[in-house]
Amino acid sequence: MDRPRDPVLADAARGRILFGGDYNPEQWPEETWHEDVRLMKEAGVNTVTLGVFSWARLEPRPGAREFGWLDTLMDLMHDNGVGVVLATPTASPPPWMGRLHPETLPRDADGHVEWWGGRQHFSHSSAVYRRYAAAITEDLAARYGSHPALTLWHINNEYCTFDHGDEAAAAFRRWLRDRYGTLDALNDAWGTAFWSQGYDCWDGVLPPRRAHYLNNPSQVLDFRRFTSDMLLECFTAERDIVARHTPHIPVTTNFMPLWTGQDGWRWAEEEDVVSVDLYPDARDPLAPRSAALVQDLTRSQARGPWMVMEQAAGGVNWRAVNQPKPRGLNRLWSLQAVARGADAVCYFQWRQSRQGAEKFHSAMLGHAGPRGRAFQEVKRLGADLARIGAEVAGTGIRADVAVLHDWHAWWAGDQDGRLSTEAGADYPAVLSAWHGALWESGVTCDFAHPEHDLSGYRMVVAPQLYLLTDAAVDNLLAYVRGGGTLVAGFLTGTADQDDRVRPGGMDVRLRELFGVRVLHEWWPLPAGEQVDCEGFTGILWSEEIEAADTVDEVLAYRGGELDGMPAVLRRDRAWYFSTLPEPEALRALLARIAAGAGVRPVLDGLPPGVEAVRRGGLLFLLNHGRAPVTVPLPGRHHDLLGGAAVTDAVTLDRYGAAVLRS
Ligand code: GAL
Repeated sequence: MDRPRDPVLADAARGRILFGGDYNPEQWPEETWHEDVRLMKEAGVNTVTLGVFSWARLEPRPGAREFGWLDTLMDLMHDNGVGVVLATPTASPPPWMGRLHPETLPRDADGHVEWWGGRQHFSHSSAVYRRYAAAITEDLAARYGSHPALTLWHINNEYCTFDHGDEAAAAFRRWLRDRYGTLDALNDAWGTAFWSQGYDCWDGVLPPRRAHYLNNPSQVLDFRRFTSDMLLECFTAERDIVARHTPHIPVTTNFMPLWTGQDGWRWAEEEDVVSVDLYPDARDPLAPRSAALVQDLTRSQARGPWMVMEQAAGGVNWRAVNQPKPRGLNRLWSLQAVARGADAVCYFQWRQSRQGAEKFHSAMLGHAGPRGRAFQEVKRLGADLARIGAEVAGTGIRADVAVLHDWHAWWAGDQDGRLSTEAGADYPAVLSAWHGALWESGVTCDFAHPEHDLSGYRMVVAPQLYLLTDAAVDNLLAYVRGGGTLVAGFLTGTADQDDRVRPGGMDVRLRELFGVRVLHEWWPLPAGEQVDCEGFTGILWSEEIEAADTVDEVLAYRGGELDGMPAVLRRDRAWYFSTLPEPEALRALLARIAAGAGVRPVLDGLPPGVEAVRRGGLLFLLNHGRAPVTVPLPGRHHDLLGGAAVTDAVTLDRYGAAVLRS
């Protein structure tokens, strides 16, 4: 089927950035709907997502259908020029389903049932759940497929359930048979010779349920792969139904940011548009950096423009302390997402709920109503997006650097029984330290899978690919052979695809590549402990390495047990870091290596706290600081946001932004 890759692009062709949010009108009387559309228009809202949690309303009894209210809303939206992202409601089955079919409810590793009364209480492996989900999806697609308001399908919501129950166990066994063919192969891959775990029949193989002591790590790894695949089956089943009815309407499902439960590379391939929910913490000084990571990752998954499907206009209700966003921050962070490739800025949710678990979660239209600050700032943003849409929507971003990320490496690495459980040594923390160092230097980067074609990048950074397939190792070697610069962090290349430690503790070809003769021991460091190195301080990790004679450069450990051994070593264009330099040092070292590889930051000499990104022909300048700042910028430019010309310098307010055409 010839399906569009990106609906946002379809809108982009009309010069629009999608702007709106989840709309849950079933929580409100009909007269409120009319006030809603009036205010939507006032705020420049051009899209809403309907139906995300509407299953009980649409199917109040098994097989019943109540579409009348949704008919009215679809028409109302269309009549008012608001497009509809229509969701399948399958993330929250109605209570009758769990009551009549308890096998549709998932179980955790202890065997406890996850009951109805919240949401996402469905077993991905339940045939009954899948049958009901397919039926409601079919009927929604048949009823609204030709409705003129429909612009995009939104399948389910933040797929994230794990299930250790019996039906999932049977599905797990089927999945494992497909993967391994024979029990012998499974026993070998899982290393079941250890602790007397050898399986004599398939029926004995289970999800990693609560055990007395550490679960088998390869079993845990496969269970994560299986879970991702089962949820993906749920997604593609619904996607195929809607695509049959509406081949011209693209399909997405919203990811959680850097979420562990799905192999995001694989999933993105199955979507027409990639979308993500983004909730940085306004109280976290590193929030813009963390957001940039998710934005770069999502853009890379999408291979182009993508959508912020959800963000908060103010505070959320699920942190320890939930403060609103200070004045201006909602706008700044929305523009940051656009700068990094988003063609849609949407929220959870349009109107703040008065009841239910999220009544204290902010919305575009908060409890304070249209006079509230949240709505006033949303209105301003709507006008800004309308101003820049024509020149921004659909355009791309060029990056010379790729950061490698693989969910399988994460799943294998972050398990019990590892060498350090310090939070900073967790996979996402290490990934973020490396990406953050590039972000601080103003270097734009993509993310890539270790088996992707990397030849277009001048520099590739592998923060912690603990698990690497043989194909990935081949790919990295070919990349360096082809002239690329590779920088790898500690624990890269430790294990194979089954989580079996490679002989020598690191893939032999990588040892050869980096100039590691022997990796004697890993020496993780407790939080707060540092290790002196030539020219910098290392944290979190160190390694007792003997360098090969042929290395080209070594920065050695100074003092302590590893005195004189290489903390960083380079052979030709391949670098290996056996410790994590503290943030400023990592930034400086990476900046030096990047410069050597011909990589330039977007702008030189940016004041601290100012982010610069080029998208299409435009330069976005974003001031993450709480004080105004002036950015020197030789020449004459036009600021699309301010509508005025600027010459030789741009002054940005606190949390201010400029979008410049030169
Ligand atoms: C998302 C979810 C929304 C809402 C939001 C609150 O994870 O998709 O439905 O719950 O969080 O932050």
